[in-house]
Amino acid sequence: MSLFRKKSIESILKKAEEEESRHGSLARHLGVRDLTAFGIAAIIGAGIFSTIGKASADGGPGVIMLFIFTAVACSFAAFAYAEFASLIPVSGSAYTYSYVAFGELFAWIIGWALIMEYGIGNVTVAISWSDYFSSLINNTTPYQVQEWLCLDYFTAKQNHGQVFALLTAGIPMEEIKNGVNAGLIEGYTAFKNAPEILGVKIIFDLPALIINILITALVYRGMKESRNVGNIMVIIKIAVVLVVIFVGAFYVDTKNWDPFMPNGIGGLLKGISAVFFAYIGFDAISTTAEECRNPQRDLPRGILYSIIICTILYVAIALVITGMVSYTELNVGDPLAYVFEKVKSLQWLSSVIAVSAVVAMASVMLVFQLGQPRIWMSMSRDGLLPKAFAKIHPKYKTPSFATIVTGLCVAIPIFFVDMSMVTDICSAGTLFAFMLVCGGVLKLRMDPNAPPSKFKTPYVNSKFIIPALFILTIVLMFVYERSWVDYYLKFESINAFLSKLPIYFFFIGFGIFSVMAFKFNFSLIPSLGLLSCFYMLSQLGYKNWMYFSIWLLIGLIIYFIYGRRHSNLAHQKN
Ligand code: ALA
Repeated sequence: MSLFRKKSIESILKKAEEEESRHGSLARHLGVRDLTAFGIAAIIGAGIFSTIGKASADGGPGVIMLFIFTAVACSFAAFAYAEFASLIPVSGSAYTYSYVAFGELFAWIIGWALIMEYGIGNVTVAISWSDYFSSLINNTTPYQVQEWLCLDYFTAKQNHGQVFALLTAGIPMEEIKNGVNAGLIEGYTAFKNAPEILGVKIIFDLPALIINILITALVYRGMKESRNVGNIMVIIKIAVVLVVIFVGAFYVDTKNWDPFMPNGIGGLLKGISAVFFAYIGFDAISTTAEECRNPQRDLPRGILYSIIICTILYVAIALVITGMVSYTELNVGDPLAYVFEKVKSLQWLSSVIAVSAVVAMASVMLVFQLGQPRIWMSMSRDGLLPKAFAKIHPKYKTPSFATIVTGLCVAIPIFFVDMSMVTDICSAGTLFAFMLVCGGVLKLRMDPNAPPSKFKTPYVNSKFIIPALFILTIVLMFVYERSWVDYYLKFESINAFLSKLPIYFFFIGFGIFSVMAFKFNFSLIPSLGLLSCFYMLSQLGYKNWMYFSIWLLIGLIIYFIYGRRHSNLAHQKN
């Protein structure tokens, strides 16, 4: 049996129809406006309300360049998603597309990687939601959320150990509270004050858990309900973002835009994961294909409209916040609220922004929590996961079992993981998925028998452009970034070598891809999509590559133990 056995588009569409008649169909409620709203619901969230702060502090006002670069890269990938979504309008998104283009093994890998995007992405957003929610309660009500109820166990334990060591070394508590280790105090207090059961400290992130349960219940209850709540959330968050832009514009001091890139390209690139995280989500729209009234027409439009709208908003916000205060002040978790706190007459707006951040992040969770079960549903239909994952609730018409499992998959890590780690891993999984989808379009277009898609990415031959780009990049690096080149060409130690590996992979991949583009006349837009996502992936640091590889290895083991044997394709062969 081939490792790369494939399915045809016709067989996928036929199977989806059969499944609909056997298990019941999903309800078709979504039009282009809903899809655009869903896209915006998924995109605008923790990224722009939170992680942009550190990215701006590192990169300076020049962070808008990063936003534009990332938007362009995401738009290339969005074209690929749109083309596939219009060609194969079923729920599996990148998973189904890879099945057609590359075969079952890649499809499994991508389905497995997407858990990183939706499942782990939602852990990040839930934790960030909890941070905003807790500070909102603490600042605006007479109540206080106890520290041991808004943190994970391991962070609290680790922080406690670190502060304890400082205290033992004779450093007074006041000094710790006001020094560089102030961030450890919350965890220390949480661990110290937490109640115990049978000698075990009870510490967990209660608000993150509650929002996860509420969102899971909503998604379980129905697409129509989710759509209505999602649309309201989107209106609120766009309104607030517009207020930030238009009111903030009056308080911009253009002197703050100088220097534009205070820490050079290096400072800018530190923010790549955070900025990319802010764009993640547009692809989730494609998982609702079976709930669209006219998926082939509306899905591509919804994807592209939402990404364009968000890019305009993001660039405007980045200009406003870096213009209102010096970039050096922006290393905070709530940058949008922070810049308004600084203007005396606008302090009330800061609380409005905090409330809307809570709404914005809940809507991201909503879309991701919708996306994950629908991918599992597709994998189950193919026999790669147990049948229960494809079960549709008879009354609510949602993939009920898969929805509950998704809720559990988000809830369990909330008890154990810390946010920065999951943000990077989520970005890594998503970039990997984008690369495969772009590659899938290239592969599909090489097949003369591929059916025509209703939405087709404009074709520009990259035969000479991509190789020219490769040579130009190398030449420019040697001319203008000689010290950078020398650093990468020098062998210092195994550890240094490992940390450089992602960059080596990128350049070797870029070279090989240039030869292929020349040979096969690749289409330019998906080619640029693949390369730009690969470049961003290479910037995520080798530890994230390592974690992601371990995750893929576990997935492969499960595939060979279960999926491969139970796959419908395996049965067809026998
Ligand atoms: N783009 C989403 C967010 O920023 C994941 O929260």
